[in-house]
Amino acid sequence: MNRERFEAFLKQLQLEPNSTVLDIACGKGEFLVKLSELYRIKGVGVDISPYFIQEARKKARLRVPDAPLDFIEIDGKNYKPQDGKLFDLSSCIGATWIWNGYKGTLKALKDMTKPGGLLLVGEPFWLKEPDPEYLRAESLQKEEYAGSHQDNVRLGEACGLSCIYALASTKEDFDHYEMLGWWSLEDYVRQNSNDPDIQEILALYRKGKENYLRWGRETMGWATYLFRKP
Ligand SMILES: C[S@@+](CC[C@H](N)C(=O)[O-])C[C@H]1O[C@@H](n2cnc3c(N)ncnc32)[C@H](O)[C@@H]1O
Repeated sequence: MNRERFEAFLKQLQLEPNSTVLDIACGKGEFLVKLSELYRIKGVGVDISPYFIQEARKKARLRVPDAPLDFIEIDGKNYKPQDGKLFDLSSCIGATWIWNGYKGTLKALKDMTKPGGLLLVGEPFWLKEPDPEYLRAESLQKEEYAGSHQDNVRLGEACGLSCIYALASTKEDFDHYEMLGWWSLEDYVRQNSNDPDIQEILALYRKGKENYLRWGRETMGWATYLFRKP
């Protein structure tokens, strides 16, 4: 995602003071911390990785020490709202496999969101028919994604939600994301030549880079969809 456009989008959200926000697969907590810098929210971040949860807590302490943010280390599919209290905004950005895909994610988040509340879901889509060779090379199934950008919007609406905004990444945004990965990988390899996994890491990195340049760049898109629950 493009940082400036994402930040402008967060301002556009105009959350009410004390809004409750759930972020499943919160990673290092950037979304909740950014929202806390803009609004007085009560947030819950859930991630399976102890390393990311640790980083998220550290980031929150440094940037928004008084914000009521709770970071929980569990599998997202086992998270249940405390005392059944539904959220004003529920999100899952880039981890819809937790509920076996995009549709399952929309249903799970909808059940945890108040009527009139918002859902934010980040999901890939096909820019064009994926080359079977690309799918094989990436061990992907075409059906893993709903289809096109329009299909992602449609599927949300078929789940009884209204899509009120979508922030689609451009090719430059996608390049930036992929290439920062190349850069940090190269740095890691230079600085950790004794890592016993280095050959395996390098092989994965080279394969990913090749697949992206040969097919992915023209084939896969990404957007973050904002839905309102009736
Ligand atoms: C692509 S990252 C996205 C992170 C964050 N949402 C963001 O946009 O920066 C995927 C995240 O999902 C987390 N994750 C993977 N499987 C999970 C699961 N079953 N339950 C909770 N988190 C999970 C990973 O640890 C990682 O932080």
